[in-house]
Amino acid sequence: MPVVLGDTERDAERFRFTLADDVSLVENQSKLEQYLEDHPDEDLIIVGPDVTMAVACEVAETYRLKRPFLGVVLMRRRMEVTTMAEALRAGVREVVLADDVEALVGATKRSMAVSEQLRNVEMGDAGANRGRIILVFSTKGGSGKTTVATNLATALSLEGEGSSVCLLDFDLETGDVAIALQLDPTRTISDALGMQGGLDDRAMASLVVPYRANMDCLLAPTRPADAEFVTPALAEELVRVAAQMYDYVVIDAPPAFTEVVLRCFDIADTYVLLTTLDMPALKNLKVSVDTLDNLGLPRNKWQVVLNRGGSRVGLTAGDVERTIGVPISAEIPSSVEVPARLNEGVTVVEANPRHAVARAFLDLADKLRKAPAMTKGAPPAPPTKRGLFRRGS
Ligand SMILES: Nc1ncnc2c1ncn2[C@@H]1O[C@H](COP(=O)(O)OP(=O)(O)OP(=O)(O)O)[C@@H](O)[C@H]1O
Ligand SMILES: [Mg+2]
Repeated sequence: MPVVLGDTERDAERFRFTLADDVSLVENQSKLEQYLEDHPDEDLIIVGPDVTMAVACEVAETYRLKRPFLGVVLMRRRMEVTTMAEALRAGVREVVLADDVEALVGATKRSMAVSEQLRNVEMGDAGANRGRIILVFSTKGGSGKTTVATNLATALSLEGEGSSVCLLDFDLETGDVAIALQLDPTRTISDALGMQGGLDDRAMASLVVPYRANMDCLLAPTRPADAEFVTPALAEELVRVAAQMYDYVVIDAPPAFTEVVLRCFDIADTYVLLTTLDMPALKNLKVSVDTLDNLGLPRNKWQVVLNRGGSRVGLTAGDVERTIGVPISAEIPSSVEVPARLNEGVTVVEANPRHAVARAFLDLADKLRKAPAMTKGAPPAPPTKRGLFRRGS
């Protein structure tokens, strides 16, 4: 049953009446910490309307990594867009108005369902080896995320190497995996919108579109407006269920740290961080790696990939390594083969596996295959700094 942070005993009566008799109440963060230590199965924190945003966000950020099953529902006396965005970035599942009893009951139920689903999936993890989650990311538009995600997914799925792969297009507003692979978007993430809290293997199988043997794709919505309804919790559920079904889950991302992307960073095993050999791309990569450091996301998950290498533009791979202090894992050459195959709707790896571009992806796939799997359930290092995405409070 939920624990409520920071309300008076009088208000607690109201919560007990609204939600259930055994709602617990804690007055401050240290009591909350103690309560959660004593109740490792707790699934939900309701942050009362009078708790400051700074405290609410700190609570959500702390448990987002420490206890991913634990949901946080935030109550506010007024609903402001900035408050909502700030809260969701910190990892709050839902924000409800203090006097909206129905919304609180609904949010509580949904959050509990998500927690249960995540626990089920994680328990399944312990028995069967769950698939590895690979997030392809760069904050620079056009740096090659979709090219890398589609080709890497193909390379991982190649028979003989024998692994099943699900490619998730989480570039929710402008995703173009469907175009890159000439897939008919008859089913997309939009069809998952009503499934939050109840996704299972069968539902997932009904959402994906096959690309080749051993490789399915979950396509981005065709209506960009649907993107705002894809919550970080739904995205996480999609990833976790896919990881139960496939050996690899490759995520194509938008060029920004959206709430969905931040959630993917929390749960991914490997981050393929892309750059190209130009100053804006390098600056973006530097900002990204600093951001990941600030969020406490462990460096042993990073794989820095240089796309369009070989172009003579003054910068070198060594410059990239020196700037970010991380070695480059792979270099993908620049070649007309990439746009040429894109226009045909096939990956280079699929169409021409002997080509230098394909070989680079096959090598990268091999490297990822051999990289040690992350310890299941081991939480990443705690954030070294807080409030990166917060406004001053
Ligand atoms: N190694 C390469 N050689 C030649 N062209 C490339 C290479 N990688 C990517 N491109 C081309 O660059 C363009 C952008 O690539 P892509 O769509 O993969 O980038 P993106 O990061 O996914 O973009 P967005 O941020 O818009 O999602 C495409 O036309 C693609 O064909
Ligand atoms: Mg893209």
